[in-house]
Amino acid sequence: MEITAVLIASILIVCVYLWFRRSDGMYPPQPPGSLPFLGHMFTLEEDPRPQFKKWHKELGDIFSFKVTGTLLIVLNGYDLIKDVLVKRANDFSDRAPFFVDKLLGLEHKGITFSSGQAWKEQRSVAISILRSFGMGKNVLNQIIQEEITHFIGLIKDLKGHPTDMRINTNMAMGNITCTLMFGQRFDYSDATFQRLMGHFYEFLRGFNKSEAVHYFPCLAKLPGDIFEAKRVTKVAHAILDIIANKLIKNMKCETNVESECNNFVMAYLAERDKRLRDGQATTMDEENLAKIVFDLLLAGSDTTASALLWCMLYAINFPEVQEKIFQEIENEIGLERAPTFHDRTKLVYLNAFIAEVTRLASVVAHSFSHLCSADTIVNGYKIPKDSIVIPNLDSIMYDKKIWGDDVMSLKPERFINQEGKLQIPEQLIPFGIGRRVCIGEGLASTAIFLMLATLFQKFKLLPEDIHSPPPIKYIYSTDVSPIRFEVCFIDRLGN
Ligand code: HEM
Repeated sequence: MEITAVLIASILIVCVYLWFRRSDGMYPPQPPGSLPFLGHMFTLEEDPRPQFKKWHKELGDIFSFKVTGTLLIVLNGYDLIKDVLVKRANDFSDRAPFFVDKLLGLEHKGITFSSGQAWKEQRSVAISILRSFGMGKNVLNQIIQEEITHFIGLIKDLKGHPTDMRINTNMAMGNITCTLMFGQRFDYSDATFQRLMGHFYEFLRGFNKSEAVHYFPCLAKLPGDIFEAKRVTKVAHAILDIIANKLIKNMKCETNVESECNNFVMAYLAERDKRLRDGQATTMDEENLAKIVFDLLLAGSDTTASALLWCMLYAINFPEVQEKIFQEIENEIGLERAPTFHDRTKLVYLNAFIAEVTRLASVVAHSFSHLCSADTIVNGYKIPKDSIVIPNLDSIMYDKKIWGDDVMSLKPERFINQEGKLQIPEQLIPFGIGRRVCIGEGLASTAIFLMLATLFQKFKLLPEDIHSPPPIKYIYSTDVSPIRFEVCFIDRLGN
């Protein structure tokens, strides 16, 4: 009798536990600490990476938390992320409108924060223009090569002195996108370029602080500016003003017909005019154009610069890996001519190193959040319309089931197969997956490859003190960048 009572009590306890674990009835399980109205707002840490890792372990591949009235769902593991973003793309390809866009009257404009038909048209036009730059005369490669020449010049001027390369790398990456957009590169000392880059820096710095406003837009109306939403909006306005009223406007007056196809702005305007002439219904207009330029500069410069800085940081921490990369470059290309995009297949070890650092750095650790556009079910849990979905790319990058027990070690060899060829598993998705996959992947990959091939060919990268290289640690912000560190570029030819 006693045993039966204990058994029944145990079953009841388990049922109650499971019920609370699957909090809100059928919603994905939630961590404790939710407060009425505020939800988990005060449980969230400034750096959510370790917290998401812990919750993933405790709650499973899908878990949720609440910030004020908004339900956020975190997806973990390659299979689930692929299932939701690829196979269930119809329900999971929208974005929550960005409060800055709303405040500036630019909701539904551009690519990154727009949704539906407008997003589809802007995205597909942007992709087809960017693709066209990679064909024929290969405008993209020419632009990247030219920027590298200036970047190398800047490094030579450092004469081996230890330097924090963050700003220089951001400027180089920003300039590649600017050249693509406007058909001309800026001198690093150009006042407009410096203002633009400075504003982007400020925008990204304020972006994290203002995130709460994204989930609870009323906060923007509070007196003062505790969440910095007003400041961030003002900076975004200043950036758009430079893009639309200075750069695009000047181009329309100055650009001649021959150079039209060599830059994004003129290619976009030509396509818009064609659609209008043909009587096609189109969302293409100058507000969208300015917002797309903003989106590409915002999404592209900092992330690509961070990826490059990670490669530099790993190179100075692992001199034997750096030496192997140099040996490969010397054997396959030599030291006389500059590496080109056609050398890509020859430099297997360098590509494997880039893939491995990309995995370990996990630069866009939580991808960009998606918006669920219909009530639906995932893994048996209810996902209500308008929940925010966060694909936790960290959970793939550090998954021992995919990469093995040495998942946290730098091991470029894991991407080289027995025939000595590069082999990238489908699970390596630093640029996301599905309909929203990064549109700058080609640009970023080409820029990173050419930049590193040239840097390692010409310079030995060293820490200031070879006995104590800077630690491999990150700063969590809009992207995951390495901590500030200094590097010395020692000219291999002694020039
Ligand atoms: C190493 C560099 C980069 C990384 C790791 C990266 C990663 C990503 C990721 C994870 C996403 C989100 C995908 C999703 O929503 O599911 C994304 C979106 C995006 N990226 Fe990148 N990116 C990089 C460079 C670039 C560059 C160079 C550009 C453009 C010049 C760019 C433009 C964009 C845009 C516009 C989106 C939004 C796409 C949309 O909403 O449809 N990115 N990127």
